Amino acid sequence: MNLHERDAIRVCRLEDIVPNTGVCALVRGRQVAIFRLGDDSVYALDNRDPFSKANVLSRGIVGDLKGELVVASPVYKQHFSLVSGCCVEDAAVQIPVYRTRIGDGFVFVEISEVATTCCYCGIGCGVLASVSGDAITSVRGDPAHPANFGRLCTKGLSLHKADPSFRALFPEIHGQRKTWDETLSFLVERFGKTIAEHGPDSVGFYVSGQFLTEDYYVFNKLAKGLIGTNNIDTNSRLCMASAAAGYKQTLGADAPPACYEDVDSAECVFIAGSNTAWAHPVLFRRIERAKPKHLIVVDPRKTETACSATLHLQIAPGSDVVLFNGMLHLMLREGWCDESYIRLHTENFESARQVASETSLERTAAICGVPETHIYEAAKIFSRSKATLSLYCQGLNQSSSGTAKNAALINLHLASGQIGKPGAGPFSLTGQPNAMGGREVGGMANLLSAHRDLGNEEHRREVAELWGVEEVPSKPGKTAVEMFDAVRAGEIKIVWIACTNPAQSLPDQKLVHEALERAELLIVQDAYRNTETAAYADVFLPAAGWGEKEGTMTNSERRVSRVRAAVPPPGEALPDWRIAVEFSKKLSLPGRKGGLLNYEKPEDIFNEHRETTRGRDLDITGLSYALLDERGPQQWPFPENAREGKKRLYEDGVFPTPSGRARFVPTPHRAVAEEVDAGYPLRLTTGRLRDQWHAMSRTGTIAGLFAHEPEPRVTVHPEDLSRAGINDGDLVQVLSRRGHIYLQAAADPDLMRGLVFIPMHWGARFLGGESRRGVNELTLGALDPSSQQPELKHCAVRMERAQLPWRLVAFGNSRDAFSLMSGLDPLMGAAPYAVRTLIGRDSPGVRFAIAMEKAPHEEILEKIDTVFGLDAPEAARYDDSRHGRRILLQGNTVRAVRLSGDTRSEPWLKELWERAAPVKELRHYLLLPVETPPGLRALRGRTVCNCFNVSEREIDAFLTKSNSIIELQASLKCGTNCGSCLPELRRKVSLAKALEAVALPLTAAKV
Ligand code: SF4
Ligand code: FES
Repeated sequence: MNLHERDAIRVCRLEDIVPNTGVCALVRGRQVAIFRLGDDSVYALDNRDPFSKANVLSRGIVGDLKGELVVASPVYKQHFSLVSGCCVEDAAVQIPVYRTRIGDGFVFVEISEVATTCCYCGIGCGVLASVSGDAITSVRGDPAHPANFGRLCTKGLSLHKADPSFRALFPEIHGQRKTWDETLSFLVERFGKTIAEHGPDSVGFYVSGQFLTEDYYVFNKLAKGLIGTNNIDTNSRLCMASAAAGYKQTLGADAPPACYEDVDSAECVFIAGSNTAWAHPVLFRRIERAKPKHLIVVDPRKTETACSATLHLQIAPGSDVVLFNGMLHLMLREGWCDESYIRLHTENFESARQVASETSLERTAAICGVPETHIYEAAKIFSRSKATLSLYCQGLNQSSSGTAKNAALINLHLASGQIGKPGAGPFSLTGQPNAMGGREVGGMANLLSAHRDLGNEEHRREVAELWGVEEVPSKPGKTAVEMFDAVRAGEIKIVWIACTNPAQSLPDQKLVHEALERAELLIVQDAYRNTETAAYADVFLPAAGWGEKEGTMTNSERRVSRVRAAVPPPGEALPDWRIAVEFSKKLSLPGRKGGLLNYEKPEDIFNEHRETTRGRDLDITGLSYALLDERGPQQWPFPENAREGKKRLYEDGVFPTPSGRARFVPTPHRAVAEEVDAGYPLRLTTGRLRDQWHAMSRTGTIAGLFAHEPEPRVTVHPEDLSRAGINDGDLVQVLSRRGHIYLQAAADPDLMRGLVFIPMHWGARFLGGESRRGVNELTLGALDPSSQQPELKHCAVRMERAQLPWRLVAFGNSRDAFSLMSGLDPLMGAAPYAVRTLIGRDSPGVRFAIAMEKAPHEEILEKIDTVFGLDAPEAARYDDSRHGRRILLQGNTVRAVRLSGDTRSEPWLKELWERAAPVKELRHYLLLPVETPPGLRALRGRTVCNCFNVSEREIDAFLTKSNSIIELQASLKCGTNCGSCLPELRRKVSLAKALEAVALPLTAAKV
């Protein structure tokens, strides 16, 4: 296991480099430009010129520019500092620099690699982060990590690209910079006063599945042990609460029984409510490699995952329980159940049988809207295959009957004995990277340490004893949605929000924003300063981010991995656990024991957490930092003296229930919380994009990750569009009973009629306009009665064409992306429709678009020009009564553009900007409203392959010559790195083949 390898790599003799010139060397797979100056000092930086995207810097001229040592790119002549890598002409651009040294006449380049874990999804991939100086310069998948064996997806491969300009660097009170001491003193004073006046339940903590286990442990103990409130919940409530409740009701413990290895031995992989190809791409690569005989996908949408299925059950939204009950009905009718497993290892079968008997095949087909033959086929394969593994995620969890959906699916595994053997079992895919770790330490309103229940008196006593406090309060805490209701009602007066963004991610945002406005004291702790929630912060606490902190996380397969700091946090940012510890040291509450959180380092916290698990289902008393460092990530349970963790649970058929038997749960069907009607006839479902993560706090700072889906869109079936008199690409208003948003409509013939889809990620930072609350302006806060998880996956909406004919678009780059984004803050509410997103790859910029009824006041246009630097005297301009244009060139390339009144020329101007292409003969057309100026080369369009920047048009053009995926990959390289784009490439190739098959007979007939 490569933990923290600091390598000085010998690259060449010093004498091999002519003074004042450079050479190029391949160092750990990276092209590095190495320069020797006249005084024999040596500098190294990336060889790639970010403007021309060519590996050419080693051929550049080195010299002194205004006192700075620089190399000039031989292509467009930008200068890069040899010391910092910063571009002299464009401060927003910086390239990696590497430490060098000379030894025995040789030049050494220092690159160290730190083994850590990806911070996005619950697959928990191992990452090797290359460090030079105080910067992570690149990442690669850790070949030794059992979750990914060296693979990463587009998000993981971009971990090091998060834009530092968005980082929070120092504590603030009411927007004023303060020291940590001042800030924490202010906080303890306010906590003390509020608790004295209103009791401990007047404060609440809303934390995050992005926390490391150690962070979670400390915050949980701070709330329940020190302050004496159970008001601590987490964004895992929006993610895995129903999965956890489903496991506990049926199998007796919140423990996924299967493991990733089961993918390799499953004969049937049954994916329900998960677009695994996009949400958990590295696991999907494993499924593709394993090529299970059957890949059944249950999803109302024809996602990339569904397109790869051998059988796709495109069920009506919210009908999952009926489908699973109907499948159980068939298993019973056809004798496909495993009678002996049911008899020996389960109980309460009659109750499930009763419900299933009422769910005939005809009824199932009618409610689900899928053919009877498909349901029959699915039930047969599920029960009769040698091993069936089901993978499921938010399609089941984010529902007002999420627990029932989970339980109904687990019923199928129990009835067919598809559990506790290689390749079989129910396997929830965790959304948040450490939602599991949070549940392990009891970091939710209804839990206590080590999977103990708050409602259990014995458990409360055990935890109080372990913590050395008199008692743990028995009053249940507020869960996520309830907590913000209580803040809005003034019941909770102080709320501390850490590493999560409820002003974007919770449903029914109008109420959430009201709550944030009304909170007496709102504390926001985050690594990023510009989240939607941070805008409301009375106190802002800067937290360390990925690559800057130490601890552990647990992935979907119960595997505990070390997370390691590769670089120090920027500015005054601190690790999350440290912030809670320093706060607790200052907090003195009458009658509460102090000194509870005296930890010096994360390992101290881990060791205490470990002790709480002794004898519990997740016993990790055999684990230690030393063992994880020596032997790599391990699965739990891993009790003391065990040689290894447990790969798969329940292989002996014994379950952690009082009887030792798994329990069937009757799951009668309940309709979705908000049915469609004449006023709101469409069903809205939300989900993930391939290259974005959750509320985009981090991925939303990486310009390259916008290329696959550049702006917020609502996808709709073409017939639904035409029925509403809307064209593909039109601007529409989507309305629910709670609010409305404007966004662009996109026709998708693969979507079922009556269903519309909006990605879950777009919050007010990107999607402004009248309401400024993003996609969750529309969703509703109906909760599952067992898990309290909200129904984010379904609500009723209607859609109307937007009556906003006047358009404006501006884009470009100036200082850094954060300044540009913040500069646009006051303008995000200036029009009913306003969108700002990042554009570009290596050199990020911002695109801003608005639509309104008529042209705004000149003052708005002037403000936009100022933000983009278009108020410079050298900017070219054109104005008439209805239109305006501004173009700012930098040398021979486009730096910023504003088009108002007529935005037709945006696509080609933006492409010129993105490619940093010389405007040459197009110069005469820059101020003209032309769609395609003469001599323009074909536009690239949307990017499909992020790794190799391959666009849809390039792929389509290739497919007119060949429909072989191997030739496509060989020619354009797309799909040959992380593979995240492979499902889309395969879909395109299949389409090309189908078109060719249709075309051939026609051609033959013609002949
Ligand atoms: S699948 Fe992608 S996002 Fe998830 S852990 Fe792996 S690299 Fe990170
Ligand atoms: S997106 Fe990574 S290979 Fe295409």
